[in-house]
Formats: sequence, C-alpha cells, structure tokens
Amino acid sequence: MTRIANFDQARAWNGALGNHWASHHERYDTLVSGLNDALFDAAAITAGERVLDVGCGAGATTRIAGRLAAHGHAVGVDISAPLLDLARATTTAQGVTNVAYEFADAQTHPFPPAGYDVLISRGGVMFFADHVTAFRNLARALRPGGRLAFVCPQPAGPEVEESRALSLFGQLLDEPDAATVAVQAAMASLSDPARIREVLHGWDDVTVAAVAAETTWGRDAADAVGFVLSRTPGRTVDAATRAALEDTLRPYETDRGVRLRAAVWLVTAKWGGGPHR
Ligand SMILES: C[S@@+](CC[C@H](N)C(=O)[O-])C[C@H]1O[C@@H](n2cnc3c(N)ncnc32)[C@H](O)[C@@H]1O
Repeated sequence: MTRIANFDQARAWNGALGNHWASHHERYDTLVSGLNDALFDAAAITAGERVLDVGCGAGATTRIAGRLAAHGHAVGVDISAPLLDLARATTTAQGVTNVAYEFADAQTHPFPPAGYDVLISRGGVMFFADHVTAFRNLARALRPGGRLAFVCPQPAGPEVEESRALSLFGQLLDEPDAATVAVQAAMASLSDPARIREVLHGWDDVTVAAVAAETTWGRDAADAVGFVLSRTPGRTVDAATRAALEDTLRPYETDRGVRLRAAVWLVTAKWGGGPHR
C-alpha cells in the first residue's frame, strides 16, 4: 500500500495535468521519444532482467523495457490514476504480457527489497518533495549491483533552442496558475548536476552527461500552438497573439513536424548494496 508524500503533485497528475497527458498521450510520447535511444542505451536492459520504470506515465517506456527484458518483466509505477489506466489498456491492446503497473508514490512506496535489476525513468524523478529520501527508497528496490538510468531537463535558458522558442508563450500569455507553476518548478528540480550528485549520495559510479535531442511539438506551427495552449484548460487567446506564437515556431517546421533542440541530462548510477544512509 502506497503512502502519498507528494500531495501537490498527486493533485496535479490526477487533475487537469494528468488528464491532459492522458488525452494527448501519443503526442506527449512523440514529444520526448527522441530521448529513448540515450535512455535505453544507458540502461542496457538484457533479456532476463526485472525493470522498474519510475513515473511511467502512460507506459510507453515501460513497454519498451518489457520488450527488452523479454524473459524478465517490467513494472511501471506512477502517482497518476488516469495515466495508469491508459498504460494498462494500451499494454493489453498491444499484447505485451510481461509488463504491469502499480499506483505508487515512488518516494515512499514499499517496493520489494532488491526486487529489480534496473531502474529507469524518462522524466519521472524530478517531482519529489524530498529527493534524498526518494532515491534512498528507490535504492532499496534494487539488488546490489543494480543500475539506475534516467533523463531529466537541463536548465532552461536562451542558449537552449527549445526554451528560447517557447519563451514567447510565457511572455504573451497570462500568468500561469499555481498548479502549473508548481509543476514547472519541480521539472527543474534536478537541472543542476551538483544537486543530482547530492541526491544520489551513497550510489556508486554516478555519471551526468549532456544529451541533445529533438522534441516534436506538432505537425506544423498552428498544430503545435494549439497543443501548447490546450495545456491550460479554459485559456483563450486573440488571433493576433495566436499568430505571433505561430510565427515563433514556423522556423522549426520540418517534414517531420515542429522540432526543437532540447537539452537534458542522462544520469546513470549503480547501487552497491551498502547501508541506506
Ligand atoms: C513528465 S511525466 C513523464 C511520464 C513518462 N515517464 C513519459 O516519459 O511519458 C512525469 C510523470 O511522473 C509521475 N510522478 C510525479 N510524481 C511522482 C511520484 N512521487 N511517484 C511516482 N510518479 C510520479 C507523474 O504522474 C507523471 O506521469
């Protein structure tokens, strides 16, 4: 039985934000699928392994992990009921049989001790109120010698194409609501490599490597703007604002959609099996 420690995140991911991710799950998956190669190369999952996907959302990466762990299994955990419902339905529809999901706050959940060989996350480990406690809890779930691989955003800034291109949204639109501000702050919580190393205290062989990957925001500029605006329920914008937003994304239109270069950290570590300090 999970004990919720992250109430604000649970509210957001079971409310408007989680419902938006569920309604647009294919688009969100496409948005960040450019990170998959780096994540799965680093995780190096082999056929018999047991994999835990933290903050699995709609389960796209859990299903990839399940396919790689062909004779083992993958479990996705998440704090969002609507995303887990979707993950289960999609997994059944795709006939993937060695993948399961569990509702869990990964910061506190009583995982089976040493129950996993590999722990992965595509952007699902930034939302903890107490990262040190969370990564200590996750370490308990790994067998001695088990591996951790996750990706998380680097600091946003004008030097990053994605944040530069999207910055006009922040300037032209009204103040975001409190829930959005809290989620945006959490998104950036591990953007400093020194902080990553701090929260992984007690882990071995910690590496933090910069990865440049393209994110895909829509078929064309109009589609991408419609998607970004739809993330705030009830938001309406006038035609001039919408046109200005589309203009900023038009230079990034390609025959594979609106693509922006994003900057993430790829983090790897091993759990040596020592005391959980
Ligand atoms: C940015 S989304 C990424 C989803 C998924 N990994 C993907 O790549 O599509 C972050 C996910 O982390 C989940 N999450 C946030 N806090 C969590 C927590 N304390 N325990 C487990 N999952 C959490 C959210 O519900 C959400 O599904």
